[in-house]
Amino acid sequence: MRIAVVGTGYVGLVTGTCFAEVGIDVTCIDIDLKKIENLKKGILPIYEPGLEEMVIRNTQKERLSFASELSTSIHGCDVAFIAVGTPPGEDGSADLKYVLAVARSIGQHMNDYIVVVTKSTVPVGTANKVRAAIEEELEARGVDIPFDVASNPEFLKEGAAIEDFLKPDRIVVGVASERGQEVMKKLYKPFLMNGHPLIFMDIPSAEMTKYAANAMLATKISFMNDIANLCEIMGADVNMVRKGIGSDVRIGNKFIYPGIGYGGSCFPKDVKALIKTASENGYEMKVLKSVEDVNENQKSVLYNKIYNHFGGSLAGKTFAIWGLSFKPKTDDMREAPSLVIIQKLLEQGAKVRAYDPVAMKEAEHMLGDSIEYGKDEYEALIDADALLLVTEWPEFRSPNFNVVSKLMKDKVVFDGRNIYEAADMMEKGFTYYGIGVKQ
Ligand code: UGA
Repeated sequence: MRIAVVGTGYVGLVTGTCFAEVGIDVTCIDIDLKKIENLKKGILPIYEPGLEEMVIRNTQKERLSFASELSTSIHGCDVAFIAVGTPPGEDGSADLKYVLAVARSIGQHMNDYIVVVTKSTVPVGTANKVRAAIEEELEARGVDIPFDVASNPEFLKEGAAIEDFLKPDRIVVGVASERGQEVMKKLYKPFLMNGHPLIFMDIPSAEMTKYAANAMLATKISFMNDIANLCEIMGADVNMVRKGIGSDVRIGNKFIYPGIGYGGSCFPKDVKALIKTASENGYEMKVLKSVEDVNENQKSVLYNKIYNHFGGSLAGKTFAIWGLSFKPKTDDMREAPSLVIIQKLLEQGAKVRAYDPVAMKEAEHMLGDSIEYGKDEYEALIDADALLLVTEWPEFRSPNFNVVSKLMKDKVVFDGRNIYEAADMMEKGFTYYGIGVKQ
């Protein structure tokens, strides 16, 4: 089979590379010439564990190629994935201009039957707009070439995207025709070895599935954050409560970790977009509005603890921050809780020295010299009045606490992800604050 993947962002690049990995002939297309030139040399625009090696290997095997032109690359393809950005507009709705521009371009250049698949997260109804855009272009050319549109949402987690793609829990495809179904079945066959299902459905349901999945996960997190805050007030320990409820299979033990709020490029955007879609159609998503509200508050929870601990006087104090990315194993800082915390500390005249295993470049790009950067986690601690654990990178889990104690001015730890145990930390002589645990 031969496919084209348009858009070499996070989703497009992982998708194209993983299809090439199982032997499919893939061309990744992007209008950004510089990006394409770099990719040809094995230089990636994003960090994702394992991806670079996979891109280089598949390029060498000539199963993966890169092009800046859709015009000829689309010829001979069975499937074209649209995986370009859908940035949120001012009002929170997804901006479809890039998706529809690609659709038009496909309509201008396709010369045989093809399945055009939306992979970007797009609102319900987008596949119809894609179909209309392609039809318009075909009509303008005066040709009648059959095609199908499909919706095939991705469920990749940053940091684990390759594993998620190669061993998916499920693959969801919305497509109307049997011909389209057959093509998609053939394409995904190599990924179904572990017995997980390929679920076919109508297009609007597939489009909705993506939003419902992310909204449900965001809801779990905000719910647990709410419970954690109440635990603190009532003298309960949310770590215990989490274990207590997580062992009920109906609830499940995943995605119920309280913290300092969800971030990243997906949950915040998708929750907003679903609320917007509903309101545009006369419905109010009451639960999701609260999910958003709780999440915004949660980003300040750690700061509020710091403020109270220091009696409101933060000016001149130095805070060490461990972890800047919105979660481990990524350099992505979009909507990261670290940004909110840092901004609040700086507003109070505090000094921040941060360290992150991979997001330092991204941080310098976003924060410039408003903060200092440690060479490693220990350097960030020198003379710090407190340590703030913001992202739960594995290497922060068991540091040498003797060294930590010696480097810090004051032994205070604010643990935004509950990776340390309160009793243990107190035994080591630290003043410890977690989320939803007894102080
Ligand atoms: C999320 C979904 O998990 C993917 O299935 C989906 O494909 C993707 O969005 C997308 O729409 O593209 P991702 O944003 O990479 O993936 O990150 P997650 O691992 O889901 O984490 C999201 C946020 O939730 C992080 O800020 C994390 O710290 C937070 N989180 C997660 C918690 O606070 N508690 C938890 O128990 C789990």
